[in-house]
Amino acid sequence: EKDQLILGIETSCDETAVALVRNGREIIANVVASQIESHKRFGGVVPEIASRHHVEQVTLVLEEALKQAGTAMEEIDGIAVTEGPGLVGALLIGVNAAKALAFAHDIPLLGVHHIAGHIYANRLVKEMEFPLLSLVVSGGHTELVYMKEHGHFEVIGETRDDAAGEAYDKVARVLNMPYPGGPHIDRLAHDGQPELDLPRAWLEPGSYDFSFSGLKSAVINTVHNAEQRGEKIAPETLAASFQASVIDVLVTKTVQAAKEYKVKQVLLAGGVAANKGLRTALQEEFKKQENVELVIPPLSLCTDNAAMIAAVGSVMYEKGQRSDLTLNGNPGLEI
Ligand code: KG4
Ligand code: ZN
Repeated sequence: EKDQLILGIETSCDETAVALVRNGREIIANVVASQIESHKRFGGVVPEIASRHHVEQVTLVLEEALKQAGTAMEEIDGIAVTEGPGLVGALLIGVNAAKALAFAHDIPLLGVHHIAGHIYANRLVKEMEFPLLSLVVSGGHTELVYMKEHGHFEVIGETRDDAAGEAYDKVARVLNMPYPGGPHIDRLAHDGQPELDLPRAWLEPGSYDFSFSGLKSAVINTVHNAEQRGEKIAPETLAASFQASVIDVLVTKTVQAAKEYKVKQVLLAGGVAANKGLRTALQEEFKKQENVELVIPPLSLCTDNAAMIAAVGSVMYEKGQRSDLTLNGNPGLEI
């Protein structure tokens, strides 16, 4: 049987990415142009700057991916592109590039949800076994997603305020660390002890929702109160205490949900999945659970990339799902 080849395009935030994936699981090329350096001095992603970079980069990144794969457009079966959620101006660049390519080469177009992409990054590592549960933790999302089959996404819990990555980035700013702060806090946390007693938002019993804004405020207040007393809390202690609180809640709720929904797999997804403390805590927890398999993607597939978008596109293509040329960037797209 003929191989299936899907081109993926991702421009929802601050990475311009193009990838080629064979038969849904095999990465043939995976090119990511990061804009982090351009946004750093502003302490966060500036939407207008992001759009301009995507315009400049998208064709170059596409050419590089095709070169790496040694593939011509004619060999491609489907073009998958992130439709949303994300920054509208940024999304539009990828969507329009995909539409132009689809039209010019007469290739089916597939609009993909960004979070579905993060979840399907796991399929590039391990075949999915249903039912499964995915803990999605990124800069914009914190969700527990239940899947009983391909393409079925049931959000059983989500954050009521800040996303986990957002909390990391905001706390990092208080500690005067460069954007994005997540990796810096992760590193610092390993040199400190979680001595501070910071809150954990469990919410109502049985709820799989999350809340991180109270924790973020508690860290900021702790820093300011110490300053007023003329004291300084070691940044390592702050980072370790904050990280312990985030991980405690994420891991506990994931384990509970995995039991209640009797899932076969638990998949970690999103930028915060790169967090060493979280990866280790989940591994230790699921080592004890013989009937549940934990899947964690390599770091390069945790942060935004286009291989994960192509992986979703592959399944959509198989199912006969197609987008048409009216496809538009949708910043608030629901999964
Ligand atoms: O998934 P992603 O690349 O972009 C979004 O779709 O949001 O996630 C980016 C987020 C940022 O908030 C960043 O600080 C966080 O992931 N992040 C981390 C780590 N690496 C990236 N957070 C904690 N620990 C890390 N090692
Ligand atoms: Zn993302």
